[in-house]
Amino acid sequence: MSKNIAVLVGSLRKDSFSKAVAKNLSKLFPADFNLEVIEIGDLPLYNQDYDDLDQVPAAYTTFREKMQTMDAVLFVTPEYNRSVPAVLKNALDVGSRPYGASVWDNKPAEIVSVSPGAISGFGANHHLRQSLVFLNMPTVQQPEAYIGNVMNLLDDNGDVNNPDTIGFFQAIVDAFVALIKRY
Ligand code: FNR
Repeated sequence: MSKNIAVLVGSLRKDSFSKAVAKNLSKLFPADFNLEVIEIGDLPLYNQDYDDLDQVPAAYTTFREKMQTMDAVLFVTPEYNRSVPAVLKNALDVGSRPYGASVWDNKPAEIVSVSPGAISGFGANHHLRQSLVFLNMPTVQQPEAYIGNVMNLLDDNGDVNNPDTIGFFQAIVDAFVALIKRY
């Protein structure tokens, strides 16, 4: 049976390394997995007052309805100040409410952190993992996906060509696909 996989990228930057990594990973899924990048940059900052049904921003409703159609979530994110970029945390918060109607509950997830640096977004990876525990998202444990020194992995078109890197990306995807199939 085909699966719908949401791709959430924690960078809005036009030439984002994280976007490029997400694109390369997306190509490695089985043909019956439909990958779709979900835009999160237009979501107003979460305000609990918006849970009042008269005030829900249209972008929230669009996002929540879209996410309800998804079977799993691939998170690809840079690290900002050793944590998750605000735009991605905001999307998590928006999707988690109103209370009892979270779009995240029980959806399998994969976390891939991306950085030009050697620490490879470890802080963002694990802060995000902490939220996903609370949101009840079964998340791939191994292989851990820390993509460091990312500018050395991408060519001018943002493609990965090194066979070792492609092999590692495939291992990340395979572990995620196996987890999704268990749910
Ligand atoms: C960064 N960057 C960064 N990198 C890192 O490895 N750890 C960090 O804590 C931070 N902190 C940080 C804060 C802010 C506000 C910015 C703008 C940047 C650098 C970051 O990894 C780099 O800009 C990446 O290129 C961002 O990812 P995208 O946009 O290329 O996907």
